[in-house]
Amino acid sequence: MTAKNIDLSVDFAGVKFKNPFLLSSSPVSNSAEMVAQSFEAGWGGVVFKTLASGRWPIVHPSPRMNPYHYGSTKMMGLQNVEQISDRPLKDNLLDLLYLKKNYPDHPIVASVMGFSTEDWQYVAKAAEDNGADMLELNFSCPHMTIEGSGHKVGQAFPLLEGFTEAVKKVVKIPVMAKMTPNITDITEPAMFAKKGGADAISAVNTFRGISEIGRDDWIPKPNIFGVGAESGYSGPAVKPVALHFIADMAKCKGLGLPLSGIGGIETWVDVLEYLLVGATTIQVTTGIIHYGYRIVEDMAEGLRDYMASKGINEVTDLIGKALPNLKETDHFDLERQGRAEYNYDICIGCGQCYIVCNDAAGQALEWEAEKRRPKLIEDKCLSCMVCSFVCPVPGLITFKEMPKQWQRNETAVMDPSLEKELKYERFEEVDLKT
Ligand SMILES: Cc1cc2nc3c(=O)[nH]c(=O)nc-3n(C[C@H](O)[C@H](O)[C@H](O)COP(=O)(O)O)c2cc1C
Repeated sequence: MTAKNIDLSVDFAGVKFKNPFLLSSSPVSNSAEMVAQSFEAGWGGVVFKTLASGRWPIVHPSPRMNPYHYGSTKMMGLQNVEQISDRPLKDNLLDLLYLKKNYPDHPIVASVMGFSTEDWQYVAKAAEDNGADMLELNFSCPHMTIEGSGHKVGQAFPLLEGFTEAVKKVVKIPVMAKMTPNITDITEPAMFAKKGGADAISAVNTFRGISEIGRDDWIPKPNIFGVGAESGYSGPAVKPVALHFIADMAKCKGLGLPLSGIGGIETWVDVLEYLLVGATTIQVTTGIIHYGYRIVEDMAEGLRDYMASKGINEVTDLIGKALPNLKETDHFDLERQGRAEYNYDICIGCGQCYIVCNDAAGQALEWEAEKRRPKLIEDKCLSCMVCSFVCPVPGLITFKEMPKQWQRNETAVMDPSLEKELKYERFEEVDLKT
């Protein structure tokens, strides 16, 4: 099998995509012209920027975004206060028609939002009648300036169910509900969406956050003429949390709906991880805002090469494959223990391992000043591995499992006499040096 021949197509809620890579609903999917450009670059489909009826005027705050740079890493996160589409509904519908006609093999998912039951139904039907292959119901924007909309609906589960049901009554195309991460247990709203008839779930929209505060004026950013607001945070910084939401839904017995994963995706490895925890398609915004549509080339090539190296032909063979290994922490085998193992031959003597072990770990390293080398006191090592996180030399510090009889010096051992009744005594002051 060669990587070139691998077919990345997926069936998602009955809609066939040539690959699982979709633009998510945002400025990257704001017009037919932009979306056409993205299809030429290789994206498999689009979730078009959220359409509204126009009965409630949409005005974007200005400026509308703030980057969260972390050290030398640019745009680790992105905060925005952008609203749903401010374009006339007619223009958006004409764009859907154009895309449908010119790119028939690229499914169009129309993201929609309403402000009453009739409004939801109106926009949904309009999108279906003008070429949408699927709908995404936006229950999740965390900074709508129209009161009682966006993630407020996604947090009021019966309302979410009601609007899903109302939309399902008027359209025939599959309907996906887009979840907010601004809740505790995502499986709850997902189950309500299912009760309302949703055919798929996408997650997540942006996290409510504060990315930065002006040091001179104390105004949170983006600074909208003297005022900031808790608002949508996205990008690589949110990926670990977003992944867990997908995994939770994929594991949820009784849900059983196809999932579209969103949050911090930039590379083929990010895509792979979303597939492994149960997503069938993925969606991207911040990665495109940072690098442009061409990141899809790396996603396709990287995923194909990976699949070829594993002898995997179909994307579906990857979906959910990490879930059997994802357990609650009480499933850990605590009988098995290990420690850090050092390859001193390649050490450059920077001393970073010594500092972290001394200040934040087991104090298991001695520093041989003359040789400029750390020396591990093996039975004091906690196996936290933070030394390897800061070590600049790849492969110098690795984890090594130890035989069963190996004992860590300070392993906590429960005094059997304390097992039944918790007792403590007041100790006399001790001299730490002794
Ligand atoms: C500037 C901006 C505008 C967005 N507008 C919408 C929108 O209109 N509808 C929607 O469902 N999500 C919207 N989103 C959320 C994205 O679709 C996506 O869920 C989120 O950004 C997380 O993905 P990411 O980390 O790839 O950006 C917007 C995000 C950004 C950054």
